[in-house]
Amino acid sequence: MNSVTVRVPAKVNLQLAVGPLRDDGYHDLVNVFHAVSIFDEVTATAKTGMSVRVEGECADQVPDDDNNLAIQAALALAGHAGRSYGVNLVIRKAIPVAGGMAGGSADAAAALVACNELWGLGLPIEDLLEIAADLGSDVPFALLGGTAVGIGRGERLTPLEVGGRFHWVFALADGGLSTAKVYAECDRMREALGETVAWPRASDPLLAALRRGDAKALGAELVNDLQPAAVMLRRSLARTLDAGREHGALGALVSGSGPTCAFLADSEAHAEELAVSLTATGVARDVITAYGPVSGPTVV
Ligand code: C5P
Repeated sequence: MNSVTVRVPAKVNLQLAVGPLRDDGYHDLVNVFHAVSIFDEVTATAKTGMSVRVEGECADQVPDDDNNLAIQAALALAGHAGRSYGVNLVIRKAIPVAGGMAGGSADAAAALVACNELWGLGLPIEDLLEIAADLGSDVPFALLGGTAVGIGRGERLTPLEVGGRFHWVFALADGGLSTAKVYAECDRMREALGETVAWPRASDPLLAALRRGDAKALGAELVNDLQPAAVMLRRSLARTLDAGREHGALGALVSGSGPTCAFLADSEAHAEELAVSLTATGVARDVITAYGPVSGPTVV
C-alpha cells in the first residue's frame, strides 16, 4: 500500500466544566465531547523523510513544518514503533482553524490512523490512545468519535450512549483564538472575582437528555466554563450568541475555547432556517450546518 486517506470529524463540547488550575499548568475538566459532520481529510503517502501540505480554507494559518500536530503524530508513532519511517501528509481542511472545534487534534488523530495502516503496524486503539494523549488533551477523543465524557485533562474517556441525532448550526468567526490564552483569561477572571473554583462534575440532566435524544432538554443544559473568557477576548461573540437565541436556537454556546459558536436546532429543517437567519444578520464569517454524533476517523 502506497497511500491511505482518512476522514476525520470536528467536535463541539456540550459541557465543558473547568476545575482548578493544576501544578502542571492544565485544568481538571469534565468535558463532554460530541463529534459532528464537518470533516478534514488526511492522505498519507509513503516517502523518505516527513513532510506536510495543507489545502483548503485558511490553510495558510496551519504550520507546514514539524510544528504541525499531524507531523508530530506521525513522528510519535514512528518513535513508538522504534523505526525511522517516512511519510508525506496532505491535509484538506474543512474544520475551522483555531476555531475551538479540535481541527488540529482531528488531523493528528487521522495521521495516527493513516500511518498505522500505511506502515502496516497494526497497533490496537489502546496504543494509539496513549500516543494521542501525549500529543494534546483533545486528540484521544478525536480518535474515538461519537459522544464521550473526558476527565483529567479531557483525555480519560468514557463513551456515552446517545438516543438520536442532533442538528447543529456553527457560526464561524474571522481569525482564531489561542486555547492557552482563553484558559489563562478564565483563570484571570476567576481570580479577579475571588471565585472558589469547584471540582468539575458531569451534569446529570445533560447526560439524561443525550440518552433520550431530547434536543430541547439538551439545549437548556449546554454549558461552557470557557465562554466568559472567550467572549472577553472576542467581544463580538456576545452578539453572535444573542442572534442565534433570538432566531430560535434551542441552545447556544461557544465551542471549546472559541471563537466558533454552536447552536442546537430541533430538526434538520430548523437548522437550515437558523443558518439562513444567522447568515442574514451578518454576525459570522460563515455559517454551516452539521449533525452529530458521527464516527471517529475512517479510512476512505
Ligand atoms: O493539551 P493541549 O496542548 O491541546 O492544550 C492546549 C492548552 O490548553 C494548554 O497548554 C493549556 O494552557 C490549556 N489546557 C488546560 N487544561 C486542559 C486542557 C488544555 O489548561 N485540561
